[in-house]
Amino acid sequence: MRRFENKRVLITGGSLGIGKATAERFASEGARVLITARRAELLEATAREIREKYGAEVLTFQMDVSKKADVDRMMAFVIEKWGGVDILINNAGIAYTEPFLEITEERWDEVININLKGQFLVGQAVAREMAKARSGVIINMGATNGLVGELHYAHYNASKGGITLLTKSMALDLAPYGIRVNCVAPGYIVTPLSAGMDSEEFVQEYIKKYIPLGRTGNPEEVAAVYAFLASDDASFITGEVIVVDGGQLAF
Ligand SMILES: NC(=O)c1ccc[n+]([C@@H]2O[C@H](COP(=O)([O-])OP(=O)(O)OC[C@H]3O[C@@H](n4cnc5c(N)ncnc54)[C@H](O)[C@@H]3O)[C@@H](O)[C@H]2O)c1
Repeated sequence: MRRFENKRVLITGGSLGIGKATAERFASEGARVLITARRAELLEATAREIREKYGAEVLTFQMDVSKKADVDRMMAFVIEKWGGVDILINNAGIAYTEPFLEITEERWDEVININLKGQFLVGQAVAREMAKARSGVIINMGATNGLVGELHYAHYNASKGGITLLTKSMALDLAPYGIRVNCVAPGYIVTPLSAGMDSEEFVQEYIKKYIPLGRTGNPEEVAAVYAFLASDDASFITGEVIVVDGGQLAF
């Protein structure tokens, strides 16, 4: 399948994990890809790998999604290079596991600013350009934590809960401009982010207790859903949250 021939796809947090798998998926289907993240070296290494594998155009931009000045610089770059964006994957995010009583103000601000404000800033900047073109697709990265709470993740849960409603709000406001906005809400996906957080023993116990399909997910399984929602197969879907969790929320 090559559903995205020459489409201009911007993926935040595209150097690692789900964002990287997503860049590969779009590149493999003919898209031109711009990946952004905070570490330039890692970004370049990922871009090189994807260019070599798929012969695709892969641009990089080093930035912090929580900083408006960085978002403005990134938009100037993408407008200069491409003249616009067809598909935005608002993917960048961080997580910490901490008991509620121990969360500091700094940590709260860090998680909310990167996960929630970051999607607002990038989403608004890109949507303004899409509105001029009267078309576009935006997909926000949520999580099952945006639908139900998880112990010791108050800041993360709050940020992802915000994203669930940010998605629906954006979908309502942007529908008149021909822009669809949806959200992907994964459960437990093994990536550098999750691998750093839990022991193998914890993961096995978690699977047994909570995941009906009996395993964790992989980044490619989330990338496939991003790609579906970005494709014309999803042309009548907007304001929706698609859960990708091996059945966890079915309980
Ligand atoms: N791994 C999971 O189990 C899981 C589950 C649900 C949702 N998610 C969400 O998926 C997204 C990607 O997670 P992942 O597991 O692939 O993580 P990861 O740590 O492997 O990758 C995160 C990416 O985001 C980038 N990033 C982080 N902070 C940034 C910032 N301030 N500005 C720009 N880029 C930044 C990183 O550079 C990296 O490229 C996150 O939004 C996360 O909340 C992950």
